[in-house]
Amino acid sequence: MSYKILFIDDEINSLKTISVILKKHNYTVFTAQTVEEGISQLQKHKPHCLLLDYRLPGKDGIEMLKWLKKENINIPVIMLTAYGTIEKAVEAMKLGAFHYLVKPVDPTVLLETIKEAISKHEILSHQEDISYKFPEIIAKSQAMREIFYIIEMVADSNSNVLITGESGTGKELVARAIHRLSKRKNHPFIVVDCATIPDNLLESELFGYEKGAFTGATERKIGLIELANSGTIFLDEIGDLSLNLQKKLLRFLQEREIQRLGSLNKIKVDVRVIAATNRDLERAVKEGVFREDLYWRLNVVRIHLPPLRERKEDIPLLVQHFVQKFAKENNRPIPTIEPEVLDVLLNYDWPGNVRELANVIERAVILSTSGVISLKHLPKRILGKESKTNDFSLNTLNLLEMEKALIIKALNETGWNQTKAAQLLGISRKQLRTKMKHHGLLPISSNQNN
Ligand SMILES: Nc1ncnc2c1ncn2[C@@H]1O[C@H](COP(=O)(O)OP(=O)(O)OP(=O)(O)O)[C@@H](O)[C@H]1O
Ligand SMILES: [Mg+2]
Repeated sequence: MSYKILFIDDEINSLKTISVILKKHNYTVFTAQTVEEGISQLQKHKPHCLLLDYRLPGKDGIEMLKWLKKENINIPVIMLTAYGTIEKAVEAMKLGAFHYLVKPVDPTVLLETIKEAISKHEILSHQEDISYKFPEIIAKSQAMREIFYIIEMVADSNSNVLITGESGTGKELVARAIHRLSKRKNHPFIVVDCATIPDNLLESELFGYEKGAFTGATERKIGLIELANSGTIFLDEIGDLSLNLQKKLLRFLQEREIQRLGSLNKIKVDVRVIAATNRDLERAVKEGVFREDLYWRLNVVRIHLPPLRERKEDIPLLVQHFVQKFAKENNRPIPTIEPEVLDVLLNYDWPGNVRELANVIERAVILSTSGVISLKHLPKRILGKESKTNDFSLNTLNLLEMEKALIIKALNETGWNQTKAAQLLGISRKQLRTKMKHHGLLPISSNQNN
């Protein structure tokens, strides 16, 4: 796919030279010489990025930015000007421009900036997309987006769901999200870890028992399935269930009734079953350790969570999320992250997936006392695993740049109100001001009481 760029500039020469460069790099270019013409081109072609000259005859670039804001049109804008001044840059940034370049622009810089603007815009606009329904699941990769859609689609049905994926990929998180988005959300969500509860105990845990059902049954006990009535039961590590319990679970799934141990009464239970495993259930079926009929009962909807190494695009967002989370939990200011740290994190293959990443970041946040996370705060095993085959582009992933983009976005959303923007970002106003200063977003003479 070729990205579309709209370039508004009154100088024909500039329009021509830059257009040639952009077309060479596979962009589709539309041009305009005035704001009015630009607006009509924009409405007609819906470009991915706008290159906007500051000084135009009649309405200028700032007017165009104001118009975009008024119309609520969300497009990354790169301002170009022959007169670089901080005030103008700040004004443009306040109005939502992504970047500010001084003419004559270096083609390499321009191309890099466009690439970055478009990719960041995609990150940000995705977050406004459906992912807002999953605030607890941090992800932007296509694979995870598809999972968001599946969750949304199945949440309201009563289908059993089987969630598979390596350890630490977020299976429980997804199970909870399904419950939360379902009509059952105000009823219990009960987690049963089939791997850690011994088999004989698990049966009575799941189905409950009557007083006197066996030696030691001094009281009636309501089982977890019954407790989950009207809600959801999450059977974690289902692959570890014994054949005996598999049979009993299957009977429950077929009849939707349970019998407490030591009772002849059958009790109707309305429970949605979500099962998860990091095992290869298909293989377990072939090997005869997992019942095929149970497998088919559970596998009505299948959600497979890809390992983190197959969705590295999610790493920067996750890093940012965990840095904020652990800084907050440990009462630390949010540290910045050196670019080479992100580089290493992107190159590592994360056998423990998101859980491992969270642990690494927590440790780094605690170890870094200077407000900066650098390589020395990472565990050795991660540093050792530099792979040369990684083709992941870091240009688009500078975390600091992303932070800046997020700050600008928050400020724009709150009408440049620092207190509200800080709230939106989950940091203090003072931290926000420090960051704004760092990113050159504070006008030199700005007053403190906004
Ligand atoms: N996309 C994500 N965004 C934010 N946190 C995540 C994400 N994925 C996983 N986590 C966090 O990582 C940890 C592991 O997730 P979870 O327990 O859901 O994994 P799991 O697949 O059930 O792992 P296991 O198979 O080991 O039980 C949790 O703390 C969870 O909150
Ligand atoms: Mg789990």
